[in-house]
Amino acid sequence: MAQVRDEFQRPRIRMPIVNYISPSGISRKIDVPAGMSVMQAALNHRIEGILGECGGNCMCATCHVYVDASSLNRIPPATDNEKFMLSIAAESPEASSRLSCQIKMTGELDGLIVRLPGKQK
Ligand code: FES
Repeated sequence: MAQVRDEFQRPRIRMPIVNYISPSGISRKIDVPAGMSVMQAALNHRIEGILGECGGNCMCATCHVYVDASSLNRIPPATDNEKFMLSIAAESPEASSRLSCQIKMTGELDGLIVRLPGKQK
């Protein structure tokens, strides 16, 4: 995580940022605490297009995102269960598809870019 200074020049740890991009290209950058899933952060900030109906249990695929190529190699590979759920996602999965509930934020993922599909069900 990057260290920044507050208004009194005291060192402060900045939370990692996720950039959510809507199908129409609108970008929203959200501070996401380490350990929180990209899906949960989207729900907490009312990002349209992430439903997360199973609560992050890898059972619904309504948290499907396309991870930007610049970020893809920083994320651990999908499990077989995640791959199966992606295969039944509402919008056709691509090589960059992931379930956002399975991406836990870390400092190394700061600047993660995810594109939202046009539909989740
Ligand atoms: S929230 Fe259900 S699979 Fe991610």
